[in-house]
Amino acid sequence: YHNGNDPKAEQLKAYTSNHQGEYLNTNQGLKINDDQNSLKSGERGATLLEDFILREKITHFDHERIPERIVHARGSGAHGFFELYESLEPYTKAKLFTDTSAKTPVFVRFSTVAGSRGSTDLPRDVRGFAVKFYTQEGNYDLVGNNMPVFFIQDALKFPDLVHAVKPEPHNEIPQAASAHDTFWDFIGQMPESMHMIQWLMSDRAIPRSLRMMEGFGVHTFRFINAENKASFVKFHWKPLLGVHSVAWDEAQRISGKNSDFHKQDLWDAIDQGQYPEWELGVQIVTEEEEHNFPFDLLDPTKIIPEEMVPVRRIGKMTLNRNPDNFFAETEQIAFHPGHIIPGIDFTNDPLLQGRLFSYTDTQLSRLGGPNFHEIPINRSIPEVHNHQRDGMHRMQINKGKVAYNPNTLAGGCPFQAKMAEGGFHSYEERIDAKKVRARSRSFFDHFSQATLFYNSQSEAEKRHIQNAFSFELGKVMVEGIRQRIVDMLLEVDVDLAHIVAANLGLLPKKLPQPVTGSIPADGDPEAHHSFKEE
Ligand code: HEM
Repeated sequence: YHNGNDPKAEQLKAYTSNHQGEYLNTNQGLKINDDQNSLKSGERGATLLEDFILREKITHFDHERIPERIVHARGSGAHGFFELYESLEPYTKAKLFTDTSAKTPVFVRFSTVAGSRGSTDLPRDVRGFAVKFYTQEGNYDLVGNNMPVFFIQDALKFPDLVHAVKPEPHNEIPQAASAHDTFWDFIGQMPESMHMIQWLMSDRAIPRSLRMMEGFGVHTFRFINAENKASFVKFHWKPLLGVHSVAWDEAQRISGKNSDFHKQDLWDAIDQGQYPEWELGVQIVTEEEEHNFPFDLLDPTKIIPEEMVPVRRIGKMTLNRNPDNFFAETEQIAFHPGHIIPGIDFTNDPLLQGRLFSYTDTQLSRLGGPNFHEIPINRSIPEVHNHQRDGMHRMQINKGKVAYNPNTLAGGCPFQAKMAEGGFHSYEERIDAKKVRARSRSFFDHFSQATLFYNSQSEAEKRHIQNAFSFELGKVMVEGIRQRIVDMLLEVDVDLAHIVAANLGLLPKKLPQPVTGSIPADGDPEAHHSFKEE
């Protein structure tokens, strides 16, 4: 926004009410004369079914809860804005990234992944870092995490990953409180998770504050410029307060004393005018450079090391306003990596491709039907004009008898002529391939970056990682599972494997054919790979 008026705040104002009026009313606008006594057959008599005031109040209460998110159920959110330092016009036509005079409203939701809505803020877990930019060209969602990589390379594995980490189906006991068998059983079968597991066992998994976490888009996305030339981009959020964590013992104590520690810290900071800020960074790779790396840019278990492609800081996000209502805003917001604007596009990262299906699909049931884009927090700044109609909870009153396109009755489509210019065009990627259910061998190096991460840690941080593995695996009841993980750690770092194994009373086993960590130029990649995957 250019003139000081935050268009999203203005839009939301139209939907806010402070409960206060001269009278209490029913939902039909009827004045209520007594909100404390139900209608009875005599002062000491039975309550009458006829009492619509009682029924309405209790019925509404009975339906207050909606399903929690299937993952990332526990969250904290805030409003703010994004300002651009420098135009990225050579790479993208997105006005968000070219207009340095604009201030773009945002809503951010931070979350834990595995716990339910009422769980603690400080488990050892990944944190969601989801940003909705309310741009003049429509909503753009950067739905990221506080770690730059992910556990799996293909979306088809996501339900298995989540089932392994969530409370076990027979007793619903969260794994932080009991055995960890299912999670580590899955990880033991999934060597591609080893890089992410290093992050998860590190201090990054127990942030000091939501204000002190990095954020990452994880996948490689595309920028598209005005000439429709594409480049690859990775997104980073860098907190201006720096990155800080707590130690595991502190995390457990904090959880015991105040399980809303992060939520409260964010709220209080904003309330007191200590606005948290992050710089947005980009790593840009031209199409010509796509294959210049010893890993695949489409593989979400890999970072692009900053030594290879520096992170360019292009703008700043400030969170300066707490929500008015947790449910209406933080709970009802619907993020989706598929919400993009002209100038940004997807890549064929197979994890991203699956996510593009999942979010709207889950929100159809979480938010009750196909009209959740009309919930105030989800509304775009541009008005919505299209021929979609009806459905549960429709708010918009579309006038006229024509709800189809093309038509002649309503003067044709009034937007038809305009659609060609400025409308969204998908990037015209050349495709010439066989339809296969397979994985590229350029995705087969699972350990090099796990080692890179471990080696990047200070001695104290390495000790925390060793302790975290020992603690977590110590809760695994099945010895074979523990053994498999320490065997895998041998491929990451010999000392790490031996220290963790010693703590567990085991010996890491050298595998018959050591994993080289390199991508074989030819032949069967599995021959170089001790962990059978398919
Ligand atoms: C939330 C699916 C991977 C970040 C969710 C939700 C689903 C989901 C169903 C709940 C959404 C809702 O109820 O509104 C998936 C699938 C994945 C995947 C199928 C892999 C195939 C990832 C990855 C990231 C991520 C790699 C990070 C880059 C998030 C975040 C949220 C979320 C931040 C919470 C959004 C919010 O605050 O409302 N995901 N996810 N997810 N996911 Fe994923």
